[in-house]
Amino acid sequence: MSSFISGWGTAVPEGIITNDDIAARVDTSDDWIVERTGIRNRRVAGPDESTATLGTTAAANAIKRAGLTPTDIDLMIVATATPERLIPHTGADIGERLGLRCGSFDLNAACSGFVYSTVVAHGMIATGMQHVLVVGAEILTRIVDPDDRGTCILFGDAAGAAVVSATSDNALLGFDLGCDGSAADILMLPAGGSRLPTSPQTVADGDHFIKMQGQEVFKRAVRAIADSARTALDRAGMTIDDIDWFVPHQANLRIIESGAQRLGIDMQRVIVNIAEYGNTSSASIPLALFEAVEAGRVRDGDVVLVSGFGAGMTWASAVLRWGTP
Ligand code: ACO
Repeated sequence: MSSFISGWGTAVPEGIITNDDIAARVDTSDDWIVERTGIRNRRVAGPDESTATLGTTAAANAIKRAGLTPTDIDLMIVATATPERLIPHTGADIGERLGLRCGSFDLNAACSGFVYSTVVAHGMIATGMQHVLVVGAEILTRIVDPDDRGTCILFGDAAGAAVVSATSDNALLGFDLGCDGSAADILMLPAGGSRLPTSPQTVADGDHFIKMQGQEVFKRAVRAIADSARTALDRAGMTIDDIDWFVPHQANLRIIESGAQRLGIDMQRVIVNIAEYGNTSSASIPLALFEAVEAGRVRDGDVVLVSGFGAGMTWASAVLRWGTP
C-alpha cells in the first residue's frame, strides 16, 4: 500500500509587511533585502489569528478538495515550530475546530516539518489507514524580534495542508529524513522550554525570540538541500533529469539558487514564491507546491522533488508523482 496527495489547501493572513515597513524600523533597505534574500513581502497574522486558525482553514480546504468530510480522516499530524500553546498540542485546537476525534500529534522538525510529516503519513497508510491529514502551520512573526535585522526580514505567517490517502500505486517514490543535532545552537529559540523556563529575566534578555547565525545556516542549508535531495532521488532510482519540478523550502532565494545549481537543475524547473511570503517554515513547501498546482504549472503525472531544511538542523526530501494514481 502506498500513498498520494488527494487534497490540498492553503491559508495566508491578509496583513502584509513590506521591506519598506521593516526599513522604517531597523537599519536596512528594500534593495538590501531583495538582493540578499529575494523577499519583498511577508504575510502577518492579525490579532484574532493563530497557528490553529490558519491551520484549520488550510486543513478544511484540503479535506474538501479531497472530496471527504472530517470523519473520514484517520489521523492528523500538525507540523509546526510555533505551536498554538505548549500544552496541549496544536492538533487538539485544529481538531476541535474541524470536528475531528481521530488521533493527532504535533511534529516539530522546523522548516522540514511538512516533508517529515508527509513521510510519516505515508508510513501510517502502510499500517492500514486510509486518509491522514498533514498540516504545516506557522505564526513566525510572533517569535521574531522586530528589532533584529538579521531575522525580522525573513519570516512570515502561513499554513498549508494535504490529505495523504491510500493507493495501490506507488506515488511516494523515495525519501530522505535527517538531523544533525551538533548544529542545534545555530538556529534556536532559547527560552520557554525546560532548559530555560520563561521568567522576567528571559523576557528582559529577549530570549523568547528566535536567534540565528545566518551565515552558518546558509552554508549548511545549501549542502543539506543538495545532499538530501540526491539521496531521495537515489532511493527512487532516479536522477535530477527525471524531475519535472523541484520545490525547495523557501528560506532565501540565494540558498534556493545555490541548491539548484549543486543539483544541476535549471531554475525554470524550480518553484519559487519567496518574494511574496518570505520564509514560512513548515508552511513554505506546501504553499509553493499548491500555488504551482493551482496555477496549472504542476500537472497530473509530473514528478516533483520537495526538499526542506531547518532548525535542528533537520532536513527532509521526497520524490512524489503528482496527481491521482
Ligand atoms: N540590512 C542591512 N544590513 C544587514 C542586514 C539587514 N537586514 N542584516 C545583516 N546586515 C549586515 C550585517 O550586519 C553585516 O554587516 P557587517 O559586514 O558590517 O558586519 C553585513 O550585512 C553582512 O551580513 P551577513 O550576515 O554576512 O549577510 P548575509 O549575506 O549572510 O545575509 C541573511 C544575511 C539574509 C540572514 C543570510 O545569512 C541568510 O539568509 N541565512 C539563512 C537564513 C535561513 O535560511 N534561516 C532559516 C532557516 S530555516 C528554519 O528552520 C527557520
